[in-house]
Amino acid sequence: MPTSKTDIFNAVNISTVRSYWDERPCNIRHSEREIGTKAYFDEVEKRKYFVEPHIRSFADFRKWKGKKVLEIGCGIGTDTINFARAGAQVTAVDLSEESLKVARQRARVFGLADRIRFYRANAEELSNTVPVENYDLVYSFGVIHHTPHPQRAISQIRRYLGPDSQFKLMVYHRHSWKVFWIIATYGKCAFWNADALIARHSEAQTGCPVTYSYTRGSVRKLLAGLEITDSRVDHIFSWSIPEYIRYQFKKVWYFRWMPTTLFRHMEQRWGWHLCVTAKNC
Ligand SMILES: C[S@@+](CC[C@H](N)C(=O)[O-])C[C@H]1O[C@@H](n2cnc3c(N)ncnc32)[C@H](O)[C@@H]1O
Repeated sequence: MPTSKTDIFNAVNISTVRSYWDERPCNIRHSEREIGTKAYFDEVEKRKYFVEPHIRSFADFRKWKGKKVLEIGCGIGTDTINFARAGAQVTAVDLSEESLKVARQRARVFGLADRIRFYRANAEELSNTVPVENYDLVYSFGVIHHTPHPQRAISQIRRYLGPDSQFKLMVYHRHSWKVFWIIATYGKCAFWNADALIARHSEAQTGCPVTYSYTRGSVRKLLAGLEITDSRVDHIFSWSIPEYIRYQFKKVWYFRWMPTTLFRHMEQRWGWHLCVTAKNC
């Protein structure tokens, strides 16, 4: 019987992960408009970067103009489109065909299909599908912690990093307000059951089959052999969920009254997103 979190998540079949994301692609409900229309994609983007404003500075889209970007786990393509719009040549990969369908349509709607190659692939076996070549940037935002064997995905990603490449990775942060909130809200403070609780409640759709979370130390181990050039923690979701799912933005009472400087301090210390930039040593 599996016991530790590694055993529990390692034992999950990749098809279970795929079905979960096929059933409800990430951020698919960020707009009520008709899926696939320009209005829909515009709203999805507006909402995503309003709620997660740190993505723009982390991805630094404009920096990659004229460069080759490999995105692992593109979902419905919000960041993908922004890399392409900024002038990058993008290769975008995801496990979920349903997510890719929406991302491909997005590329067509914005006239960027010639800038993006899409592949359906498992990051753990990337080189079976995506030709191995050096990229200027390998970017993966909120993905590697959802695959049963993150270390295998990282080993694969390293094959696409040349001497001057950058690797930008976001994984969930263990020492975060969100983890505390999940355990306090859904787990009656059962800290010993943290891994199962985090996976169950980490996403908009309950019951994610795999969600690892990392400390700065464990992400260093994950990226052993690479040099980490920057590491920062950001993002606390401060919105009241009943309003948020009705497309209204109302902060929960304790964040409403909190001074912005204190809130930013909390985000940078106990944020949910551990954003790491690394390169070959
Ligand atoms: C939380 S979503 C993030 C999507 C996107 N990066 C974004 O920020 O909107 C996680 C994505 O990772 C993909 N994913 C999970 N495991 C994967 C794997 N082993 N290989 C490729 N993609 C994977 C899922 O299909 C899903 O689209």
